Amino acid sequence: MDEVFGLFPTPFLRAPGTLSASLVQGLVRHFTVMPRDLNKASDQLSHTALLGPDDSPLLVEAATVITPKIVDMGALMFGERLEWSIKEMWVNVLEPGGQQAMHNHANSFISGVVYLTDTHEASQTVFLRSAGGSDFVFKNEHANVTSTPFNGDRWISPKPAPGDVVLFPSYLLHAVPPNQGERRITMAFNAIPSGLDSWGYSVKFG
Ligand SMILES: [Fe+2]
Repeated sequence: MDEVFGLFPTPFLRAPGTLSASLVQGLVRHFTVMPRDLNKASDQLSHTALLGPDDSPLLVEAATVITPKIVDMGALMFGERLEWSIKEMWVNVLEPGGQQAMHNHANSFISGVVYLTDTHEASQTVFLRSAGGSDFVFKNEHANVTSTPFNGDRWISPKPAPGDVVLFPSYLLHAVPPNQGERRITMAFNAIPSGLDSWGYSVKFG
């Protein structure tokens, strides 16, 4: 029997229904009336400033249910249940027609998204394979090509429901295609472990 192994896969953790409906409603009510800055690339996308625990007890409540998921994800990435903290959170409001350009998150190890409204299927978060270096590229792309986990360069995350959380390594490129549905609201965050240790060569974060 032939076997195929997916070597060195990238973890992507989806945690449905992590935030209760009442917490989701509270976050939407509280944060959509806050001042927001327009995104550099899209006038139909705006972000709150970075939020901290002092901005609302709702954020503390959200962090309490999200952090255990981050610990699970960190155990996959680093092989140990480390002490993790969410170091920043912010709310994104994507109006119809708006989009989020491809990006990743600097100075962070695990990033995540909490979905606070319904998401139109056209604007489910898309994850992209790294574009690579400056070498010449060979590709086989045409109508008769079948997508596999080994040749694909983009992956559309599963349709989320309000209260769902997804976690991914912060280096992973992602984007949101043009929103063909109603106003789409998400909360994003970055998390770091207190430290990493490689046989005594240790670093502390925070
Ligand atoms: Fe992002």
